[in-house]
Amino acid sequence: MTTTYAVLSEGLEKRFGTVHAVRGLDLAVARGTVCGVLGPNGAGKTTAVRLLTTLLRPDAGSARIAGHDLVREASAVRRRIGVTGQYASVDGDLTGRQNLRLFARLHRVRGPAERAGELLDRFGLTEAADRPASTYSGGMRRRLDLAASLIRRPDVLFLDEPTTGLDPASRNQIWDAVRDLKREGTTVLLTTQYLEEADQLADDIALVDRGRVAHSGSPSQLKALIGTYAEVVVAHPDALAKAAGVLDRLTGAEPSFDHERNAVGAVTGDPTLTLPRLVRELDAAGVPLLDASMRPPTLDDVFLRLTDRKEQAA
Ligand SMILES: Nc1ncnc2c1ncn2[C@@H]1O[C@H](COP(=O)(O)OP(=O)(O)OP(=O)(O)O)[C@@H](O)[C@H]1O
Ligand SMILES: [Mg+2]
Repeated sequence: MTTTYAVLSEGLEKRFGTVHAVRGLDLAVARGTVCGVLGPNGAGKTTAVRLLTTLLRPDAGSARIAGHDLVREASAVRRRIGVTGQYASVDGDLTGRQNLRLFARLHRVRGPAERAGELLDRFGLTEAADRPASTYSGGMRRRLDLAASLIRRPDVLFLDEPTTGLDPASRNQIWDAVRDLKREGTTVLLTTQYLEEADQLADDIALVDRGRVAHSGSPSQLKALIGTYAEVVVAHPDALAKAAGVLDRLTGAEPSFDHERNAVGAVTGDPTLTLPRLVRELDAAGVPLLDASMRPPTLDDVFLRLTDRKEQAA
């Protein structure tokens, strides 16, 4: 069956006792695209992946994965997907090659030795293939894990925080692998805590907060929504309040303080608020300005702006 969406979920829910981990998750991932599920610790990303990959049963809601019903056709779903968890699933006592052969046999792949060799080669693990996986670096283990999830050539690949804890070189290798997979037509859903990662890889981003999608769109759509972070450093602490007043007036956003650096900042979505104008306004207000800057938002800024943190603390 051909469908537009490789992943389509509606109102997925999951509770663990009193913790409502996923609270009505609506996701639509078009076939052949990369979807970045972005969210802070505890947002429900791993639970969402476990639900969508049949590792957990939803309490409510429905989903279709690669055209199959998540609950009623769970085994068909399993045949079409690959999963790499937040924590490596390879066996450290076995070599890379043994791990992949084992996965291939478990999944009844024809020619398990050939398939293992092919994937070792693809992920630059041929030299290390006959060493126990426990001797691999973090990046190598992650690559082996990714290779294992591809053993059956999945239509949809789920990657839960594939680059957390990796150095930049290893991270780039994983990013390249994701780009290659997309080129080959694989749909990829990956979770991440890094805005940059989502920005680099994702066609669309779903911003998950407290178990549901708070915002979604292309990276540039989200950035336009988020705006720019304007920060001002003043010469002495007494001037912070005045600087905050100017920022508040110009941005309409609640300023945040860094008292150690005598700094105050706020997010703005106003394209007419440029650095020269900010400096002029501060100067006109008599703020003893030491430094002023405008930079793209960090993930913290994104979440302050797009989610209501106060509500979560309540
Ligand atoms: N098996 C479980 N039993 C009880 N609570 C759980 C279980 N799994 C997850 N939770 C809770 O559900 C919420 C969402 O957790 P989840 O692991 O899905 O978040 P996450 O977005 O993946 O976080 P992280 O970025 O830390 O990986 C958290 O409050 C977590 O403590
Ligand atoms: Mg997680």
